[in-house]
Amino acid sequence: MSVEWNDSLFLSHEIMDEDHRKMAALINKLYLSVNESFGKEATCRAAQGLLEFSRAHFDHEKRLMERHRYPDTMRHLWQHRELLDELSSLIYGLEGSSANIKADTIEFIDKWFTIHLRDSDAKLAYFLNNLDHDSEARPTA
Ligand SMILES: [Fe+2]
Ligand SMILES: [Fe+2]
Repeated sequence: MSVEWNDSLFLSHEIMDEDHRKMAALINKLYLSVNESFGKEATCRAAQGLLEFSRAHFDHEKRLMERHRYPDTMRHLWQHRELLDELSSLIYGLEGSSANIKADTIEFIDKWFTIHLRDSDAKLAYFLNNLDHDSEARPTA
């Protein structure tokens, strides 16, 4: 159980790629904690680290989308919210009575990460990489 970093996740956008690589490492840290039974506290800390980094990364993508008036912003932000909600409820469970992370949570994180990057983030990176910088610099009437 691990997220494998490969070319299909690489979007030719330096900042996004760097963040995604860090996200993959934090997901793997969470999986390691589960696989090796590091215990509830360690798993909770790993999930919190992933949540905080994801939040910062999503804020950055949101600023890029707003600055460049990305047409599919609402759907994209809704997908970000889905992961944040899943991680928040995982942490809530671990802080409460849950002994460990559920298999369907792992499956959700796994699928979310690869599908969101290959589809939504790939479209956003393509849009950002193909902006017409000349017209962007021109003041609007
Ligand atoms: Fe992203
Ligand atoms: Fe995204």
